[in-house]
Amino acid sequence: MAGARQLTLTVVADYDEMSRLAADRVASVVTAAPDGAITVPTGETPLGMYQDLVARIQAGALDVSHTHIFCLDEYLGVTPEDEASLTHWLIQAFLKPAGIPREHIHFIPSAAPDPQAAAQQYEADIAALGGLKLAVVGLGPNGHIAFNEPGSGPDAPTRVLDLTPRSIAQSEAYFDGKAEIPDQAITMGLGTILGADRIVLIVSGERKADILHKVLEGPETTDVPGSLLRRAGDRLEIIADQAAASHLSK
Ligand code: PGA
Repeated sequence: MAGARQLTLTVVADYDEMSRLAADRVASVVTAAPDGAITVPTGETPLGMYQDLVARIQAGALDVSHTHIFCLDEYLGVTPEDEASLTHWLIQAFLKPAGIPREHIHFIPSAAPDPQAAAQQYEADIAALGGLKLAVVGLGPNGHIAFNEPGSGPDAPTRVLDLTPRSIAQSEAYFDGKAEIPDQAITMGLGTILGADRIVLIVSGERKADILHKVLEGPETTDVPGSLLRRAGDRLEIIADQAAASHLSK
């Protein structure tokens, strides 16, 4: 679109540099708005970012004690105590070592008696804190953002939805054969994520090269929910390492 403000694509050498830069983005938002709300992802991709952030926090270089953290997604019916839950993963990887106070952690209501109503309340909780100052998200191999699976539109709210077989297979790493993988999840909506003041999409590795090409150079389509992030224009930064960027034409 003529005159549309452009997203930023930052291509870095490798995973470590992507992680450091993503941690820089989190640190600058948290420093500018210490009591603001942010959302951060689970998965392999953000692990390095969390290690970097925790090192800064433990060295006293970053204070997250006033930051509100909203979880992005969770399997339906599991609790943060479930070892296979995404929330448990996030607690271990980041929330606990970072010392985020429990009252500032907003668990996605995956085990609420009425998850749909609880999802609406989750949106209201975000709004009550002034909206998301930052959403850091990863990119699923099928183009999903959080658990906004293919078919999710740009206005999709926080909600319960069915997982695709591909996402269920991807979840095997969390469940490790210990329990049956749920076939439904609750996810922060793509619309909710698109409402953030800043969005940082982190992408690493050759295995993401094809889907990143579709996200950036294919049509904006609900078939590839990541492509809809482009609607955020200059509020979106994609930080990709060279391997992930290797199928981009420019
Ligand atoms: P990954 O997951 O970081 O483990 O590749 C990303 C995602 O599915 O959102």
